[in-house]
Amino acid sequence: MCGIVGYVGPREARPLLLAGLDQLEYRGYDSAGISVLKGDTIEAVRAVGNLSALRGAISAGTDTGAVAVAERPQPGTGIGHTRWATHGGVTEENAHPHFDTSDRIHIVVNGIVENYIELKQRLIDEGAMFTSETDAEVIAHLVADHYDGDLVKAVRTAYAELRGHYAFVAMSADEPGLLVGARNECPLIIGRGQDEQFIASAIPAFLRETRHVQYIDNDEIVVVRPEGVEFFSAAGQALPRDIVEIDWDAETAEKQGYETFMLKEIHEQADAVAETIGERAARNDGIDLGDLGTIDDELLRNVRRIVMVACGTSYHAGLIGRYAIEEWSRVPVDVEIASEYRYRNPVVGAGDLVIGISQSGETADTLAAMRTARQRGATVLALTNIMGSQATREADGVLYTRAGLEIGVAATKTFVSQVAACYLLALRLAELRGTLEPDVLTETITELKHLPHLIALMLEHGIENIERIALAHHRADFFLYLGRHVGLPVALEGALKLKEISYIATDAYAAGEMKHGPIALLDQNTPVVVIATDSPVLEKIISNIQEVRARGAQVIAVATEGDRRLEGHADEVIEIPATNWMLAPLLAVVPLQLLAYYIARKRELSVDQPRNLAKTVTVE
Ligand code: F6R
Repeated sequence: MCGIVGYVGPREARPLLLAGLDQLEYRGYDSAGISVLKGDTIEAVRAVGNLSALRGAISAGTDTGAVAVAERPQPGTGIGHTRWATHGGVTEENAHPHFDTSDRIHIVVNGIVENYIELKQRLIDEGAMFTSETDAEVIAHLVADHYDGDLVKAVRTAYAELRGHYAFVAMSADEPGLLVGARNECPLIIGRGQDEQFIASAIPAFLRETRHVQYIDNDEIVVVRPEGVEFFSAAGQALPRDIVEIDWDAETAEKQGYETFMLKEIHEQADAVAETIGERAARNDGIDLGDLGTIDDELLRNVRRIVMVACGTSYHAGLIGRYAIEEWSRVPVDVEIASEYRYRNPVVGAGDLVIGISQSGETADTLAAMRTARQRGATVLALTNIMGSQATREADGVLYTRAGLEIGVAATKTFVSQVAACYLLALRLAELRGTLEPDVLTETITELKHLPHLIALMLEHGIENIERIALAHHRADFFLYLGRHVGLPVALEGALKLKEISYIATDAYAAGEMKHGPIALLDQNTPVVVIATDSPVLEKIISNIQEVRARGAQVIAVATEGDRRLEGHADEVIEIPATNWMLAPLLAVVPLQLLAYYIARKRELSVDQPRNLAKTVTVE
């Protein structure tokens, strides 16, 4: 995910910004840039690739004079950014900082501006000249549009017009020693120094300089000057803010204070889903998937069949996608394990849309399955998290998830992003094919957009109960997971998470199949995790729970908040917020990730790097 750093103070800004960006490298990025005030102009240097490419571009500019660099270091005002491409390819023009037409306002942005298309059109009509394909650039022009010598006021006015999920920092060539930041959902934090201040998307960016931080809350605007920082609500009301001293070491800092990358990534899931949905669901009455290469509306409208090919967790995301696509758009969907599909002589060809789901975009079996389908005349879509990955190069179109870099080997935030992307595709198909009533479509989109908030709520309030359940069951030798309908892929994913990080044997089954075999495994020592969220099949699931309890096994039910039907049926209940039952998997999987996580931690295992597993499987 992108990284932001800014500095105001007596020291030269550029080395501090570069050092800050170095510390944000762990987040993953594909281009970088900085803007610093020099005299009465702002100089931006941007480069595709890693920070050594940026350093190279800076020194090339210094050598050739292409970038005018003052001979004496000046007191610093500057901003820097590492970009993980979402809107627009990996190019220097799309890298941040972005600037307005007069090159007087520079900005760095994380996140997504949902309404950038309408704002961009308005600003172009007023004479603005855009130089990138990004949504972020619109903020520079918008701030400039409102600028009359007061950057704070211009940012506040611009902020009121923006919709989305973002954080940004702006500077003006006319106001040295001033940075103005705004936060809407995406993180932004202040680092307090002695007559100098830092602003960044994550603490590591300034941890070498200061351990005194101030947290910026959602919907706030901050005014950062060397002598101090002021906090305001979006409406302009001044707000008090404590300075907190943190005691993180460098490793904790990389993990943002979480004990592992996996836990950090579980907590990033609300953001990952919000970013994946982003502007694609902005208009509420339908979905815009952006540029899908040669996969146009006509093709989607007439597609005969969809085949999803994937491995592991990505396969489970595809299974959830199947329910949504078939339910909402009535397009038949097959979901195939890629390593099997590639050797099966599959019946596939023109008229079929084959979707390769792969967070890395490099999984050998998934790539081979996509190739097989393409050679036989099918159209191939890559659904991936990694821009420029092999899957994107071999497909007719790409639908990106926007989860940012995932370091923990067990997939978490990339899984929920894949599921969110499948929902978007399903709703787009339904819109194009007219298979959902317009009011149902709008209602479902509204509920989908509410999910990040519900994920955040669960993560805020639900963890204690799960830790307690993990403690009670962490010595078990075997767990059975059961689900029906969309609950089945959730059960499969929960079981996979537990086995891969805790090394406990698990099985996941369609609950209706249990009596055809797995029921023989049950005794009073068997924890059975049942996905029992509200759905048309809940009554059936409750019957399955009774079968389980009749064998003395322990039932841990994942249920919808406030649903009394589970009362008396389960030994433990983990509640998730109520939502559209087709969307519930995005919520139900979160407690299962946490259950696996806390069980593995109780067993003192290395959750970020489980034995025998690799993050990217480029071999067969
Ligand atoms: C499990 C996990 C793996 C991957 C699988 C496919 O937590 O991460 O099962 O899902 O190796 O990887 P991608 O999605 O990169 O193709």
